[in-house]
Amino acid sequence: MAKQLFECAIDVVNEPDLVKKTDLAMDTARKWLKRQMGKGRYDEQSLPEKPGRPEKPELLPPGQMPKRNLRSVEGRKAHIHALAHIELGAVDLTWDLVARGCGHNLPRSFLDNWVQVGLEEAKHFRLLATRLEELDTFYGAYPAHDGLWQSCAETAHDLLARLAIIPLVLEARGLDITPVMIERTEAVGDLATAKILHTIYNDEKRHVAFGAKWFRYQCDVEHKQPVPTFQALVRQHFRGALKPPFNDKARAAAGLTPSFYKPIASIIG
Ligand SMILES: [Fe+2]
Ligand SMILES: [Fe+2]
Repeated sequence: MAKQLFECAIDVVNEPDLVKKTDLAMDTARKWLKRQMGKGRYDEQSLPEKPGRPEKPELLPPGQMPKRNLRSVEGRKAHIHALAHIELGAVDLTWDLVARGCGHNLPRSFLDNWVQVGLEEAKHFRLLATRLEELDTFYGAYPAHDGLWQSCAETAHDLLARLAIIPLVLEARGLDITPVMIERTEAVGDLATAKILHTIYNDEKRHVAFGAKWFRYQCDVEHKQPVPTFQALVRQHFRGALKPPFNDKARAAAGLTPSFYKPIASIIG
């Protein structure tokens, strides 16, 4: 019998070859969204502990990453490489969430939303990996850091924690910094990269919106108040600080209003 969503989502996370990984993500998403596959049988034992990855890039602790200067071509390549690495992390995190979501009693639209996100993260990675090739380099050519999957492992068994940290802290942070990144990339004349960043920014607004929607939904199911629950989960599971400036407009448009994050933001300046 053909594989169903649960198994395919796990295959995406486990696959070390990045062309196959992103192909499989896109193919699974298309089949699921066209209703050509079912949810499949959930099996806790087969959930992946670590994603499959190629031998390169070399992974370094976040503090040891070399500094980048966007004005030099070399610095820009390293920057695009870092973004590609984040998107690859998002591919694995999202398909892990899809697999785990198969084990919860959630509306089908939960899986529809996150499968769509999983498709878009694969697209983002490919756009950036292709851009690296246009610049005569490739994904794997620079060191990268290993922080993202740690958030995944840390929140693996708690759906609310996963939604609080991944879409509502990390992807929301993307909404804060991407417009600035687009401006700087345009300022140095790299319009091709800026165009990719625009695409990513527009998709990521929706990812945060899905996060906010399903966080509220799950709070309701568990009879919890969204704002204090979010703040307690961030304090418990997120080691960094929530740093301003925040893109309040884009965050609020996605349903993440300041009452969630302002009271726990670090005060700067
Ligand atoms: Fe993305
Ligand atoms: Fe995303």
